[in-house]
Amino acid sequence: PKHYNITLLPGDGIGPEVVSVAKNVLSLVGSRHGIEFGFQEMPVGGAALDLVGVPLPDETLSVAKQSDAILLGAIGGYKWDKNEKHLKPETGLLQLRAGLGVFANLRPATVLPQLVDSSTLKKEVAEGVDLMVVRELTGGIYFGQPRGFSTTEKGEEIGFNTEVYATYEIDRIARVAFETARKRCGKLCSVDKANVLEASMLWRKRVTLMASDYPDVELTHMYVDNAAMQLIRDPKQFDTIVTNNIFGDILSDEASMLTGSIGMLPSACLGESGPGLFEPIHGSAPDIAGQDKANPLATVLSVAMLLRYGLQEEYAAITIESAVLDTLNNGFRTGDIFSSGKKLVGCKEIGEEVMKSVIKLFRNR
Ligand code: NAD
Ligand code: IPM
Ligand code: MN
Repeated sequence: PKHYNITLLPGDGIGPEVVSVAKNVLSLVGSRHGIEFGFQEMPVGGAALDLVGVPLPDETLSVAKQSDAILLGAIGGYKWDKNEKHLKPETGLLQLRAGLGVFANLRPATVLPQLVDSSTLKKEVAEGVDLMVVRELTGGIYFGQPRGFSTTEKGEEIGFNTEVYATYEIDRIARVAFETARKRCGKLCSVDKANVLEASMLWRKRVTLMASDYPDVELTHMYVDNAAMQLIRDPKQFDTIVTNNIFGDILSDEASMLTGSIGMLPSACLGESGPGLFEPIHGSAPDIAGQDKANPLATVLSVAMLLRYGLQEEYAAITIESAVLDTLNNGFRTGDIFSSGKKLVGCKEIGEEVMKSVIKLFRNR
């Protein structure tokens, strides 16, 4: 059979709980599709800090780079919140993204008919939403220099960061976004703050230039404050959104609530070459960690993206997505997507239901 090596980075909080479920689903789906997976688990984030004193050990990065795809749970937690910046779990995640060169982060938000009632928006607003946020992931204010802490002449403390984009960074993410929009509904909305920020002015100029290569894609521009409002007012106006690192972070969490819960949203982080990194968009959820309450479906759906975008195993990806839909059709819900009349289950149990659905899908063939 085909063989792939997968690096597992469970991380912190609910990370290990959701990765364990997703790994089991991946193994099972592989076995049904004639694909064998080798798994190597490595420490990252707070787990790595506790073990070896850094949030991204060299060995974790080198194992990840040599594998075929990487699955990350989540990092971070109260315990490490007061650490110096270079010793924060979050720094490890940023180093991982930079080290892998995964500049393009695809964050789809789809309102499933089964979960319309879990959205906090009115049914007619949420129903049918299907959008893709293309977030730039290795540049902008997250990485811009200069940055740091300093003091003014008067001795007052200051903290400062730099929002910076070079043309090559804008061009390569814009390319991914136009290609993505072309394969979807052909509508691309570029979100920026070009009325105020120079980095956004260049962003808008370069995206506009690239539009001539894509006459079949309808390009619009929107300021980020308006975009935040429009996402709630009328989310169905959006198909593909392309935006910078920090706006993409914020807008994708916002978009997650259209779908019912942040516990449902997967993502793919892709570069020009090398393995992709796949992770739910949510964090380590310290408030529910260790209680078997986490929704693992964002991570299970991230595994579907791993199969589709990381390994070009489209059929296996579809199997996972169908199994998730079947599990929801059968009424199983974790707390975050629970609504009356449904069956409230924990992280492990909903994972087992997804596996049963996989088996059922194959029995019915
Ligand atoms: P969070 O996403 O961890 O949690 C926000 C809220 O959503 C919490 O109430 C949580 O219980 C809930 N939630 C999140 N995922 C869920 C799931 N799968 N099922 C059910 N409920 C879920 O965001 P936060 O609280 O702002 O951050 C907590 C920690 O996670 C911080 O240390 C932060 O830096 C880190 N973080 C990491 C990542 C990542 O690893 N990619 C992403 C975001 C935040
Ligand atoms: C995410 C997270 C990260 C980000 C943090 C934890 C560094 O919020 O993956 O969305 O801001 O990118
Ligand atoms: Mn985020």
